[in-house]
Amino acid sequence: MLTRKLFHRFHDLPIRRKMILSFLAVISFGGIITLLIGMRIEHRTIFSLAQAKVRHDLASAWMVYNEKLISIRDIIHLSTDREFILDTLRTGNTADRAKKLDDIRREFDLDILTVTDARGRVVLRARRPDVSGDDQSGDPLVRRALLKETAAATQIVSRAELLKEGPDLADRAYFTFIPTAMAAERSEDHEENGMMLKAASPVEDESGTLLGVLYGGVLFNRNYNLVDRVKDIVYKGEKYKDKDIGTATIFQSDLRISTNVLNDQGRRAVGTRVSREVNDAVLRNGRHWVDRAFVVNEWYITAYEPIKEIDGRIVGMLYVGMLEKPYIDLRNRVMGTFAVLAGLCIFFLLTLLAFIAANITRPLGVMVEATDKIAKGDLDHRVDIDRRDEIGQLAGSFNRMTEDLKRANEGLTQWGRVLEKRVEERARELQTMQAVMIQSEKLASLGKMAAGVAHEINNPLTSILIQAHLLLETCEPGNPSLENLTLIADETSRCAEIVKGLLEFARMTPAQPTKADVNDIIERSIQLLEKQASVRNIKIVKALDLSLPSIDLDKNKMQQVFSNLIINACDAMAGGGTLTITSRLGLDRRQIEILFADTGMGIPEENIHKLFDPFFTTKSAGTGLGLAVSYGIVQQRGGKIGVRSEVGQGTVFIVILPLDQQSEETSQEEV
Ligand SMILES: Nc1ncnc2c1ncn2[C@@H]1O[C@H](COP(=O)(O)OP(=O)(O)OP(=O)(O)O)[C@@H](O)[C@H]1O
Ligand SMILES: [Mg+2]
Repeated sequence: MLTRKLFHRFHDLPIRRKMILSFLAVISFGGIITLLIGMRIEHRTIFSLAQAKVRHDLASAWMVYNEKLISIRDIIHLSTDREFILDTLRTGNTADRAKKLDDIRREFDLDILTVTDARGRVVLRARRPDVSGDDQSGDPLVRRALLKETAAATQIVSRAELLKEGPDLADRAYFTFIPTAMAAERSEDHEENGMMLKAASPVEDESGTLLGVLYGGVLFNRNYNLVDRVKDIVYKGEKYKDKDIGTATIFQSDLRISTNVLNDQGRRAVGTRVSREVNDAVLRNGRHWVDRAFVVNEWYITAYEPIKEIDGRIVGMLYVGMLEKPYIDLRNRVMGTFAVLAGLCIFFLLTLLAFIAANITRPLGVMVEATDKIAKGDLDHRVDIDRRDEIGQLAGSFNRMTEDLKRANEGLTQWGRVLEKRVEERARELQTMQAVMIQSEKLASLGKMAAGVAHEINNPLTSILIQAHLLLETCEPGNPSLENLTLIADETSRCAEIVKGLLEFARMTPAQPTKADVNDIIERSIQLLEKQASVRNIKIVKALDLSLPSIDLDKNKMQQVFSNLIINACDAMAGGGTLTITSRLGLDRRQIEILFADTGMGIPEENIHKLFDPFFTTKSAGTGLGLAVSYGIVQQRGGKIGVRSEVGQGTVFIVILPLDQQSEETSQEEV
């Protein structure tokens, strides 16, 4: 659970931190393993070297030891030739001989020197001439000498024997055990015997007859010559931090009887005992011991070997040891250097990694930033990474993608605009179409009604008019009814005109089409009205396409249309202006278009759809039939009439006449 949580947390870290952490984990793991293995190898190497050295040192110590033994043997052997000894043994006279014997003992630094007779009974003791007569033939060395053999060996000498040789020797040999934590249990608490290097040699006369035995030796207990000599020869007095590097000890059994290992008080640590471990290995099992060991108060790299009596019995040990500290310090120094180097290496690698990680992740950051900007709509943003690796490729693709996105976006926006425009156009078209339909439907029904009314009142009107004229003809001048009759005739004529207009609007008067040139009809219409226009300060400009084809139409009716439009234009330009009349072929070349563009007051929006209604007028004297009639005529021809106007700017009326006359459909549209 926890590991999964940690893993997730690790997963969410920024790439750079993840890289550094992973690398750190790898090098830490590798570093620790290497360090441990290195330490182990280092330790083994240093300590196996140290152990080899201590083994070698022990061999050297043995040489010193044996040398000493041999020298004692030689001294004893050579001394058997002394005349006074021969004489003593031959004559039994010991007077003044003890002194001489003791001189030899002193000269050769021996602790004991004793002469026995040929049966092994003591004749003369160098230090204690008063003690004699005891039997030494039981001593293994003396026994060999009695067999005419010079023998030398290490030997345990009992307190009783020591007392015989000299009480001071017994004192020297006596040790009360100093309690030692690691030592093996022992029932006794002291040692009273001594350990000696002892030699015995036969004393013979010229004929080779055995006269007796000379034996002597050196007591090891509290005699430090040998151990110090070992130290001097093997370690040459080397010191480490004021401590002797090398130490040597002679053990009697497990007891230190001669040593240069010092205790806490700086005194030789005699009276202490060896550890149980060494005791078991060396004393009990007779094995060599080479290992580190805690000796008295320091760790040493040590070597122990058993010391044996002449019959092979293990009686003690010879030890050499080197302070472990210099090696430990050496190892620590090496490991320290190694660790510092490793630390520097890690530091360097991490710096390098931080740099590499930054190098890799910085462009990613730039890209994330870019993505952000692009997401916020800045499609002009580009990633500026100039490299050829995967990140560079990614940046390239990214930029291309952004460009494509931008293009697509622009396309969409443009398309949106076009669509909007089209929708607007369509809506407008629909609106227009709807308006046109309403208008044409309205006009159609109006037309029907107008036609009905006109038809109904046309005949009565004609009758009235005829009757009025007949009455007028019969009326004498000066008749008071004359004026009224004239008024009746005139008004009836006006009504007839209106009815005619309505019938025209309802297309009830048949057309009489002939081939005609539209431009001619325009010219004619202008001619009739030009004067009237110029009086009103109106300029008529012609822009006629003279190449227009002739078409079938009722010239008179069409002239009426054009005249109506010109008059209306002139009416709209009260203070003068310009009327531009254009004729042209339509874009699809299937119709002729005639435009009447004035610079008049224009038509308000709300009036546009009423223009073609019969009787719609804004003029006081107008009938409102002009445009209605024109509409009817144009529609009868199969054309259309439209208007576009802007208040204050002017108005354009357009008449569209198809080249081929078609059936009547719509006749009015907005342009
Ligand atoms: N060119 C124009 N500029 C401004 N308004 C116009 C123009 N043509 C027509 N009109 C408006 O349309 C109305 C209807 O015109 P229409 O020709 O049908 O009747 P009228 O001119 O008023 O009367 P009539 O033509 O019977 O003498 C006019 O009263 C006028 O308000
Ligand atoms: Mg008019």
